[in-house]
Amino acid sequence: MDKLVIEGGFPLEGEVCISGAKNAALPILISSLLSDEAVNLQNVPNLQDIETCIDLLSELGVSVNHQDNACFLKANDVNNFDAPYDLVKTMRASILVLGPLLAKHGEAKVSLPGGCAIGSRPVDIHIKGLELMGAKIIIDKGYISASTANLPNKKLQGCRIFMDQVTVGGTENLMMAAVLAEGITILENAAKEPEIVDLGNCLIKMGAIIEGLGTDKIKIQGVSSLKETSYKIMFDRIEAGTFMVAAAMTGGHVICNNVNPEEMESITQKVKESGAKVEVSENSISVTGNKKLESVKIITAPYPAFPTDMQAQFMALNVVAEGVSEITETIFENRFMHAQELIRMGAEIDIKQNTAITKGNNILTGTNVMATDLRASASLVLAALVANGKTTIERIYHLDRGYEKLEAKFNALGANIKRLN
Ligand code: EPZ
Repeated sequence: MDKLVIEGGFPLEGEVCISGAKNAALPILISSLLSDEAVNLQNVPNLQDIETCIDLLSELGVSVNHQDNACFLKANDVNNFDAPYDLVKTMRASILVLGPLLAKHGEAKVSLPGGCAIGSRPVDIHIKGLELMGAKIIIDKGYISASTANLPNKKLQGCRIFMDQVTVGGTENLMMAAVLAEGITILENAAKEPEIVDLGNCLIKMGAIIEGLGTDKIKIQGVSSLKETSYKIMFDRIEAGTFMVAAAMTGGHVICNNVNPEEMESITQKVKESGAKVEVSENSISVTGNKKLESVKIITAPYPAFPTDMQAQFMALNVVAEGVSEITETIFENRFMHAQELIRMGAEIDIKQNTAITKGNNILTGTNVMATDLRASASLVLAALVANGKTTIERIYHLDRGYEKLEAKFNALGANIKRLN
């Protein structure tokens, strides 16, 4: 297994090109299942999760041509409707094939994703929504078997769905299912993340009729078929946020290019509160670190509030900044595993239920640490960039799932990171 060896103490200086968003690319790749026509995507990030998603789509019979950051898909010959456990367990977003397969082919058999390091992450809202649209769903031996055989024209029926909890994946699954359903579907209490808006905009380019993207009420008028489409995936706001925190922590100056600052507000606000200087232009954000950072109070919540995917990164900032602060995680029940590893580097963190009290002003010391999940890995990289001496991060396959060429991008900014395998 690969590991990263990071020598701390180098302020980051320079410009970084932010890649396409993993969490927009995954549902948009999967949305190709809804169409018989070609879907030509640009700005697709080269990540392990993208490879896994392409493997799954290929297994279903989608023809996929993936070169650099472009991906051409055509799903006119899908002949297999089973998403097996070995693929779903490595990438939970595989559950998103459920809605499109049901909508297009009237059947799907998808492994329940099961839990993951950060929480149980059930998919009950996805399933309840599809049942309200008329699907017959049986859960047996860890698999979801779904069918529309008992419906008129074997088509899902549009209806009003109130989602008990704000769920990104649930909103995406049901929005895609509704695109080919008969009649109108209203998703109430929908998630508003920019990645959902990106998926919706791609679906609209394909010919879907969708209103209310970015609000908590999305209305979808079902259509009978979709057309050939080209689409450019939005930027990855979590990757951008990670580099912004790195600039603040190392006392450097980093310009993140290819971003939309308007979709970064909650992150930018917290970087500013830490004492770093932030300047925005139309498609870039520059951050100038400050020797005396202040720790910041974080409460994660659905967009437009502070994103849970940036919580671990700010915990790394808080432990080296001035002052005591608290980080409250409201989305997932077990997303503080990076804390134990940061403590091994010299951080002082007290965990009380879903709140971490961070004591600042710690001098971190490089040592061996272990990545436990994608964003925890990012937090350990950030800590290592400012720690005294060398840090070895094990199990960085977690990192490779969600960051494209991370060590190359950091080294181009002056970091000293080596990958050992
Ligand atoms: C998406 O996960 C992202 N993944 C996550 O990013 C992100 O942390 C999360 O949204 C929240 O923003 C992708 O987009 C591929 P949810 P998702 O459904 O869709 C509960 C990363 O690091 N829930 O919004 O799985 C659930 O348990 C990853 O890139 C139900 O109870 O998240 C959680 O507590 C990590 N029942 C909360 O809702 C359901 O049916 C939010 O989950 C669905 C969700």
